[in-house]
Formats: sequence, structure tokens, C-alpha cells
Amino acid sequence: MKKILRVSCSPRGQDTESHRLSQKIVGLLQQEDPTAILVERVIGDGSIPHVDADYATSQGSSVDILHGASIALSDKLIQELESADVLVIGTPMHNFTVPSMLKAWIDHVVRARRTFNVTPAGKVGLLRDRPVFVAIASGGRFSGERARQPDFLTPYLKAVLGITGLHDLTFFSVQGTGSAPEAVAETRIQTDQALQDYFSSPARSGPDASPTAATAPAPRA
Ligand SMILES: Cc1cc2nc3c(=O)[nH]c(=O)nc-3n(C[C@H](O)[C@H](O)[C@H](O)COP(=O)(O)O)c2cc1C
Repeated sequence: MKKILRVSCSPRGQDTESHRLSQKIVGLLQQEDPTAILVERVIGDGSIPHVDADYATSQGSSVDILHGASIALSDKLIQELESADVLVIGTPMHNFTVPSMLKAWIDHVVRARRTFNVTPAGKVGLLRDRPVFVAIASGGRFSGERARQPDFLTPYLKAVLGITGLHDLTFFSVQGTGSAPEAVAETRIQTDQALQDYFSSPARSGPDASPTAATAPAPRA
């Protein structure tokens, strides 16, 4: 049975733009496979602490130091990720990049000798690739002609999840949530259309269909 892991990163909880967008993605995935199970990992409340000393020492050495609270939490979060067939991340943009809660999750799952190996040729991922959908909400625009700020969020996620072997990333976004309500409503409509186009594309029909993007496309809407 397919397992969807949703990581929710907004500090404002569920009544938020990124959560609503991630819910639409989850809904479309469940429409494709009504038997799919949703596993929720809510981290926007800051429930994932920063990594501790043992974890940091282990990460920087050639052997594991397998004690300390961070290692135990890391084991749990990695198992959750490994057992998921699809990962959905709902996140706001904070200061041009991921919020610190998502960064804390990343620090626990991007782990030496567990989700990647360091080789003379660079870091090599140990996770099986699987579809990753990222639902982003941002107060301003970070892509397209009307962008007025840099985007360190999407390239960062591509690079850092890529280290672990996750390359199949697809981004959707509601940008400009700080704009006038009519403009936000228009943006939501465009994003909904992008979702419909994506999930109804011929490449997704058929029993073995999966997102085919080898590299993540630019954020939609
Ligand atoms: C600490 C903080 C930093 C933010 N930085 C940015 C930013 O760099 N760019 C941007 O467009 N919006 C920024 N925002 C606005 C949020 O991205 C925006 O309000 C978004 O819609 C929140 O998503 P949510 O409804 O899912 O919580 C920031 C908000 C906070 C709280």
C-alpha cells in the first residue's frame, strides 16, 4: 500500500497557505490511489530540536557515535522517510529560504553513512529516489518576471535532498500572499490550474505512472 509522508513546516499550523496547498497535493495523490496512507510529521511548531554534540561529532568523523538524543530522533525521521513512497513538504519561505524548522528536519535526515556516503567523487545518496512534492507559500514573489527577491529555497532543497538520492522534486507555490486579497485569489486559481495540469497529464496515467521530472522544474505558479 502506498505511503505518503507529509512534512508540515508552517509555524502557524494548518490554517495556512502552505498547508492548504500541500493538502491539495495530498488530495490529488489520494485520488490517484485511494488506498494510499497519509503519515503526518508536523514540525512547524518547532518540535524538532537542533542536532546535539554527539550527532555533530558523528557527522564530521569517519565512524558513528551512536548515542545522544539526536541520533535516536534522526533514526526515527529517516525510517519515516525510507518507508514513504511519496514525500510532500508544505513550507513557507522564510528569509529567502526554508524555515529553520525544516532546516532542523533536514539536518536530522541528511546523515553521513545513513542517507549518504562521502566518496572521493563527492557525496553519494543512499536513499531510493521517490517523488517529492514541495508546496511553498511566500509573502512576495520569488520566480517569474515579477520576482523581487532571490530564491535560495528551491535550489537548496534540490541540492540538499539530492545528496541523499532524492532527485525527483516537483515544486508548486502560492507566491505573493502578502498582496491584495484579489491578487492572492488569482494566484491560488493559477496554482490550482498548474496542479490540475500536472496531475491530469498523460505521463501520470497508467498503473506505473510517476512524475517524470528528472530535474525539478521551475516552481509552478
Ligand atoms: C520569519 C519570516 C520570514 C519571512 N521571509 C519571507 C521571505 O523571505 N520572502 C517572502 O516572500 N515571504 C517571507 N515571509 C512571508 C511568508 O512566506 C508568507 O507569509 C507565507 O504565506 C507564509 O506561509 P504559511 O501561510 O504557510 O505560514 C516570511 C515570514 C516570516 C514569518
